Amino acid sequence: MQSSSYFLHLFVAVALAGAATMHVSAPVALPLGSLRLEGRLSFDESDLSSASRDFGNRGRLLPAVVVRPASAADVAATVRHVFRQGGGRSGTLTVAARGHGHSLHGQAQAAGGVVLSMESLAAGGGMTPAVVWPGAEAYVDASGGALWIDVLRESLKQGMAPKSWTDYLHLTVGGTLSNAGVSGQAFRHGPQISNVLQLEVVTGQGEVMNCSDKENADLFHAVLGGLGQFGIITRARIALEPAPKMVKWTRVLYSDFRSFMEDQEMLTSSMESFDYVEGFVIINRTGILNSWRSSFDPQDPVRASKFDSGGRVLFCLEMATNFNREEVESKNKQVERLLSKLRYIPSTLFQSEVSYLEFLDRVHVSELKLRSVGLWEIPHPWLNLFVPRSRIHDFAREVFGKILKDNSNGPILLYPLNRIKWDNRTSAVIPDEEIFYLVAFLSSAPSQSSLEQALKLNNEVLEFCNRAGIRMKQYLPHYTTQEEWRAHFGDQWDRFSQRKEIYDPLNILAPGQRIFHKAGARFSSSTWQ
Ligand SMILES: Cc1cc2nc3c(=O)[nH]c(=O)nc-3n(C[C@H](O)[C@H](O)[C@H](O)COP(=O)(O)OP(=O)(O)OC[C@H]3O[C@@H](n4cnc5c(N)ncnc54)[C@H](O)[C@@H]3O)c2cc1C
Ligand SMILES: *[C@@H]1O[C@H](CO)[C@@H](O)[C@H](O)[C@H]1NC(C)=O
Ligand SMILES: *[C@@H]1O[C@H](CO)[C@@H](O)[C@H](O)[C@H]1NC(C)=O
Ligand SMILES: *[C@@H]1O[C@H](CO)[C@@H](O)[C@H](O)[C@H]1NC(C)=O
Repeated sequence: MQSSSYFLHLFVAVALAGAATMHVSAPVALPLGSLRLEGRLSFDESDLSSASRDFGNRGRLLPAVVVRPASAADVAATVRHVFRQGGGRSGTLTVAARGHGHSLHGQAQAAGGVVLSMESLAAGGGMTPAVVWPGAEAYVDASGGALWIDVLRESLKQGMAPKSWTDYLHLTVGGTLSNAGVSGQAFRHGPQISNVLQLEVVTGQGEVMNCSDKENADLFHAVLGGLGQFGIITRARIALEPAPKMVKWTRVLYSDFRSFMEDQEMLTSSMESFDYVEGFVIINRTGILNSWRSSFDPQDPVRASKFDSGGRVLFCLEMATNFNREEVESKNKQVERLLSKLRYIPSTLFQSEVSYLEFLDRVHVSELKLRSVGLWEIPHPWLNLFVPRSRIHDFAREVFGKILKDNSNGPILLYPLNRIKWDNRTSAVIPDEEIFYLVAFLSSAPSQSSLEQALKLNNEVLEFCNRAGIRMKQYLPHYTTQEEWRAHFGDQWDRFSQRKEIYDPLNILAPGQRIFHKAGARFSSSTWQ
């Protein structure tokens, strides 16, 4: 009974998918009917529709079914089922794990395939999203579908916290570990993928495996930064440190790029430094989208922009020092000592104190503001680059003020990272230099014309890099042909594709990255440029 109704539903769902997107030429019955799960399958139109969206808001591919797993065993059963029957060599099904759907280009979508809602895993089967193990070498076991904000909240209950973050915490553990996870702590602790002790992974054959530096080490390193290509992370063991209570948050402005970058590098290479260092570029900014991510001072969120720039491009250095009440004096002295070494414009020192949780969750405040005025669920033509240090000055000279005359549609982040904190056995791709900069163009496009304009500018930046021979690497990469992916991976391509053959030989997993293609799988690139 159950099985036949699944079958019927599936039939309807695929027909619907075809009607709504015109990617599926004819309804096809998918052999998922015999799948038995603790969790459930959903063919609900609204579930399928939300699984076809992402933060990028640039294109949509409807899946045939959304699976809400209650356990790693459910994830494994689903993948195994597709591997043996629905995928098979002749089958057409693919499987996309979907974290919070904060991808930009459909990376968590599966046209006519199976989307695994990883957030259900975090909520399902009586599992808590995260279990904290205190002690000298404390760690947290987090569900692959847990949001980082929930991992933080659980850890804080024990006075602990992970060390390395993203700027925004409403992202999943599995989603950021499939990329890298970078923020202002990465110069010291490395990206989030450098802070993982162990993973539980479901491979493309539907096998559940534990892996770490010691056990199944190749799988472990493959999955970290692996763009979802080798396995689905169902659990991650993440190193913790004692959590500070408070943060002293400081911003200063520069008009000279060289002083700005030299000061950033001085801070990110010194033993005594801030606990967090980022930076952003301010080019003639106006409007609400500027204050994205800068909920700095509750009374006056874009206070810094009131400084009279006289039309110059400004560079804002953002720093934070963690502290507890009893150390406030020594920490204040440390901050003053560090600030005295910097060459910012003296009248531009802005400081505030907030709780550690408020600091880490700062972007959520902006999210709520933007949502309230309908400016969150709009297209996000983001471009994220890792630019090698040797060319960052050339890059800045050409891009800030020349290619880009303003950044009124969103912030531009710019801060250095240290290669030594990255593990070259992982799948993450970074430039071949000891220091490289994250440069993130985080545009929002409230209108069609602003979308076209942002895409045009992104292209000009990429063309400039190409022309000038700047060997940057895209972060959260998006490419449409295998030639481009090969170039992205460079001499890591052979290892990457060999790992694919071992762990996902039928190319079932994460089809939305468009690196490997399942023979016969439905995919229409017509919605994607
Ligand atoms: C507002 C905002 C701020 C951001 N800030 C930062 C930042 O500061 N630093 C940073 O590094 N990134 C940042 N990101 C990017 C973020 O890391 C990516 O969006 C990432 O994809 C995580 O989102 P997600 O959890 O929703 O994953 P999804 O978008 O759902 O998935 C991303 C990819 O991983 C795969 N995947 C998802 N879950 C799993 C799993 N459990 N196992 C294996 N594969 C899986 C998916 O199939 C897909 O291919 C930001 C994104 C947004 C929207
Ligand atoms: C993985 O490790 C956890 C504990 O660390 C254990 O409970 C689980 O059974 C292991 N799974 C496999 C497949 O070995
Ligand atoms: C800055 O923006 C304002 C408003 O959009 C515009 O009128 C002005 O020309 C811009 N200035 C420069 C130097 O681009
Ligand atoms: C990683 O770096 C080490 C140390 O620099 C080097 O010996 C090794 O060959 C590198 N491995 C890979 C796979 O690039």
